[in-house]
Amino acid sequence: MPKGDIVRVSPDKLSFRTSGAIHDIYTDRQANMVKTGWTEASIRSNPFVNTHIMPDRHLHAARRRLLSNAFSEGAMKNLENYVVDRIRDWCNYIAEAPEQNQTKIDGEKDELSGWSKARDMGIWSTLLTVDVLGELCFGSSFDAMKNGHTFVMDLLLSSSKLNNIIAFLPIRNLIFPLIRTPAILFVTSNETLKHRFEYREKITGLVEKRFALEKSNNAEKAAGEQRRDFFHYLLHAKDPQTGAQFQSKDLVGEGSLLVGAGSDTSSTAMSACFFYLMRWPRAFKKLQDEVRSAFQHVEEIRHGPKLAGLLYLRACIDEAMRLSPPVPGLLDRKILPGGAVVDDHSLPEGVVVGVPIYAIHHSEKYFPRPFEFSPERWIAGVGIGVNTGPGSSPVTPEAVELAKAAFHPFSSGPRGCIGKNMAYMELLIAVGRAAWLFDIRLKHGDRTGEGRPGGEPGRERVGEYQLRDWLISGREGPVLEFRRREVET
Ligand code: HEM
Repeated sequence: MPKGDIVRVSPDKLSFRTSGAIHDIYTDRQANMVKTGWTEASIRSNPFVNTHIMPDRHLHAARRRLLSNAFSEGAMKNLENYVVDRIRDWCNYIAEAPEQNQTKIDGEKDELSGWSKARDMGIWSTLLTVDVLGELCFGSSFDAMKNGHTFVMDLLLSSSKLNNIIAFLPIRNLIFPLIRTPAILFVTSNETLKHRFEYREKITGLVEKRFALEKSNNAEKAAGEQRRDFFHYLLHAKDPQTGAQFQSKDLVGEGSLLVGAGSDTSSTAMSACFFYLMRWPRAFKKLQDEVRSAFQHVEEIRHGPKLAGLLYLRACIDEAMRLSPPVPGLLDRKILPGGAVVDDHSLPEGVVVGVPIYAIHHSEKYFPRPFEFSPERWIAGVGIGVNTGPGSSPVTPEAVELAKAAFHPFSSGPRGCIGKNMAYMELLIAVGRAAWLFDIRLKHGDRTGEGRPGGEPGRERVGEYQLRDWLISGREGPVLEFRRREVET
């Protein structure tokens, strides 16, 4: 095994960087391990349980069976209408004209007028995904795009950061019970805790409203006219094995989870994708050519086989998630009594293991020239290889398979992302429509999101979109301008 593929990061924790370890720790349904770390912090400091944080494998499997009703292909078809509506709004918002005629740095009028206000995609991608989730979960948008801001975004990041800090403190067992109830606010004025409790109250209110809507409005309507969003499916879900159903308190937990798990992750993937496309103009041009030649009208860009067939679009999204994975870190798993074998190493009970997603996504063994944005690496047989320069060899099917085995942005197996298909639906439609509709450029001189030479170790690459790992990701930029292309109608 190459040096550095197993690192002992703390006395009881081993970090692996191989596709074999991905299989043994995450993908294998029989892996003799449970979730720990961030998950433990979350479950012990939170009165609402949800699918993501349930450590018990059997209870989790039952809960996930119920949740999966909202993610079936049939459900996706109905959810798509809500997603497309919000993406249409988003395209209009990001293309808004500036207040007055935009001027160039040198004071002259921009001879290519028609460029939009500058938009920070670190923010605008989240405004979109938060509004999509509000719509899908509670039947009402959070009005994030309308207000240009959302409390959800700040709360998710600060709450996730707090969990991440507490999860690994030696005195964590003393802290968990303290931060579980609002009584803690009498002794500390911590803003994050305060917002966490406010958020729970808000979600509880939204769930109650959505319950009422289902009972009154939906029940009276003909099947074809009913609102079929996430909560419609969750309220009607029944476990085929036990007949169990979600209770309203369960749905508060699941609602908070879906907004949290589905918004910041997808928006990091989206903003990373724009970051790299703006720095690799050849790739952006290729993407625009692909999308514009496949569709005559923007409204044709919808979920389905035609969009899924755009290999370069999908490759751009995957390549951005490889370079800057929305969940970048190591997802801890603790070995249960009886031990486990990881990548041919026998390990005893109690050892914590995992594969850091960022680290394996940058392993040269799987991804030649690992810091280069090269969507071509995902498409076997294309004329241009990983090195997009002339004379490079075509990508082989074997190279694509090797890369796929080490590509792990959604994790995998029984605890892998249940929202993966929904995430791809949203990303393909949003990035596809933006590439079809707009010419896009970086705001003049914008460097937001870049690394800085001579900066913190590991953060010196100018061309790398910088993430801060708090389970989900803190990030900023890029700041972009959009201009509608002229299309003959
Ligand atoms: C690019 C977008 C996304 C990425 C990269 C992503 C990534 C992940 C990862 C790595 C996990 C495993 C976490 C762990 O082991 O602790 C996960 C779990 C989960 N994700 Fe996603 N996710 C994305 C989008 C979504 C969306 C759109 C939804 C739903 C609206 C969603 C819902 C969930 C849920 C419910 C879980 C918990 C599953 C379980 O524990 O059974 N995710 N996601």
